[in-house]
Amino acid sequence: MTHKVILDTDPGIDDAMAIAYAIAHPDIELLALTTIFGNVRTHEATRNALALLEHWDSDADVAEGESAPVSMPANEPSYLVHGRNGLGGVDIPASSRSKHALGAVDYIIEATKRHPGEIVLCAIGPLTNLARLLERDPEVVSRLKAVVVMGGAVHRKGNVTPVAEANFWNDPHAADAVLGASWPLVLAPLDCTMPVVFTPDFMQALADENPKLGKPLATMARFYSRFYRSHQGLGGCVPHDVMALTWLTVPGAFRLQKGALGVVTEGPAIGQTLFQPGGTQSRARCFDGRADHLVMVDTDAQMFMADYMMVMTRHAG
Ligand code: RIB
Ligand code: CA
Repeated sequence: MTHKVILDTDPGIDDAMAIAYAIAHPDIELLALTTIFGNVRTHEATRNALALLEHWDSDADVAEGESAPVSMPANEPSYLVHGRNGLGGVDIPASSRSKHALGAVDYIIEATKRHPGEIVLCAIGPLTNLARLLERDPEVVSRLKAVVVMGGAVHRKGNVTPVAEANFWNDPHAADAVLGASWPLVLAPLDCTMPVVFTPDFMQALADENPKLGKPLATMARFYSRFYRSHQGLGGCVPHDVMALTWLTVPGAFRLQKGALGVVTEGPAIGQTLFQPGGTQSRARCFDGRADHLVMVDTDAQMFMADYMMVMTRHAG
């Protein structure tokens, strides 16, 4: 089965790992990258998206997204984690192509009208574009095959505050709107990403087997791993964003829960993911009227890594 995918992204080193996987996977037709701020500013994400696609010979479109959160000032990009250029200092030549004439939201509206019920929207950055999409065209919820979101932390602590994960922290109002919408949403929180660590040996094997994809990613991973080593004592880096795609290609690698979701939008817990398991009741009114969504709460790391290596090296060279 071929998956038509639009990837909403803030490239970003683990975003680059996901973009490479989407390009390499025989069952993924990457229609476009829509860009957003987060790891970098939106125009920098657009620059990186165009450069990575050209470097890896993909003709997917790039449509530029929103430049600020829906209702608060933007946080400073996480240059500490992804580097000042967002790609760990790796110099990918600037693309000769230009971004699409349509902005991200209009691009998604137009594409889902052209392919109703066929497109999977994978969001691996802050959810501002998706929130604006819901505002501008509420009917879009019935035109998407699925919405897969990398973000949040359900049974785990956050990675930018004790309770908040970066994508939700960078636009909590957008994240709450997206998780509250009645579209076929699957959440890939830190619960399913943190069990996977791409070690230096794994990345070197990737670079040896497929230099075109693997060499730049291995160099980016060296920079990215410094953050994980110093802040979390890990022996490598976590490929968070790839999970949003492997939900489509290796669903058996994940353990699931189902329930209603929300995001705290103010106060010291801003950006925290709220989860009420399906079929349970509580005094919390914030879940009233919210549909249950699937949540990926754990990962078979060996299965995930074997798939990633296989896909990324199938056309070695
Ligand atoms: O918390 C991890 C998420 O924040 C990933 O999408 C990473 O790229 C950053 O955007
Ligand atoms: Ca990202």
